[in-house]
Amino acid sequence: MTADVSALRDQILRFKQEKRAIILSHNYQRDEVQEIADFVGDSLELSRIAATQDCAMIVFCGVHFMAESASILSPDKTVLLPEVDAGCPMADMISADAPRPVRKSFPGFDNPPAYVYPPEYTLNEMKKAYPGVPVVAYVNTTAEVKAESDICCTSANVVKVIDSLPGDSVICVPDKNLSMWAARNTKKKVIAWDGYCNVHERVTVQDVQAAREHHPKALILAHPECRIEVLAMADHVTSTSGMLRFVQASSEKEFVVGTEIGLMYRLRRENPDKTFYALRKDMICPNMKKTTLQSVLLAFQENRYVVKVPEHIRVRAKKALDRMLEVV
Ligand code: 13P
Ligand code: SF4
Repeated sequence: MTADVSALRDQILRFKQEKRAIILSHNYQRDEVQEIADFVGDSLELSRIAATQDCAMIVFCGVHFMAESASILSPDKTVLLPEVDAGCPMADMISADAPRPVRKSFPGFDNPPAYVYPPEYTLNEMKKAYPGVPVVAYVNTTAEVKAESDICCTSANVVKVIDSLPGDSVICVPDKNLSMWAARNTKKKVIAWDGYCNVHERVTVQDVQAAREHHPKALILAHPECRIEVLAMADHVTSTSGMLRFVQASSEKEFVVGTEIGLMYRLRRENPDKTFYALRKDMICPNMKKTTLQSVLLAFQENRYVVKVPEHIRVRAKKALDRMLEVV
């Protein structure tokens, strides 16, 4: 560790104590950010922690919807998102009422998908088209969308959540890949939105074939945000922390990892005897990488950027999150 990094860490740790804060980090954050966090996890684990910790402040090293979830579950705590622009393009692909602007390009990506979600359709219009059908919102959604939904889900619990609902159909938004994967694992009819994660969507069947060829002994792990044809070829499909658990329990020694490469840090650190290969080296979420030690320190110094969900939205969104936390 360089002297600069160690000085930054010391300052952050001092602020943390002073402000009675905890630092939460998603599994995709930069290695050095994961290192200073009190908890590192997937969306489900971080939601649970945000709901139960005894502290005054949560500094959320992740993307905007994650900090919103923390604010929804812990309204009395100050929630800070160190990088104000750290958003999730998939969460921006659906809105409750007002149409969203079309994102025509994804900076930093060499193979953006050829299409974008038409912005003129909203969740509330979809609900009208399927009256009485419960809505499952992936946590990768805005608080407004959660407020219009019956229950939330994460990549770790989507099937359990769908199966917990009455009736034989569900609306599942916004990730079409997660929805299709859930549809293959439930008896219910799943009506999907057309959103996607531009990091996971880029993985192709050819990438999986190449990985099998180059690493014939390795098991292939894929996140359910990957395309359905990619998931069909994988050895195991699960959330980021699900991958960590799977690898730890496995007697195999080599793994190809089909998710954002930030997960490699924990995989390697927690399994020094095993070898990991990225399914694609460009599976990098630029939004997750915006947060640095410097921005965490500035967040403490300048109390920025406060994420506070308005009360009338928060109360309704909380019902959807609470319902999910009761199911799993
Ligand atoms: P996890 O729920 O697996 O942590 O995934 C969150 C996410 O944003 C995946 O792209
Ligand atoms: Fe959103 Fe994809 Fe980044 Fe996850 S990896 S935060 S789904 S853009």
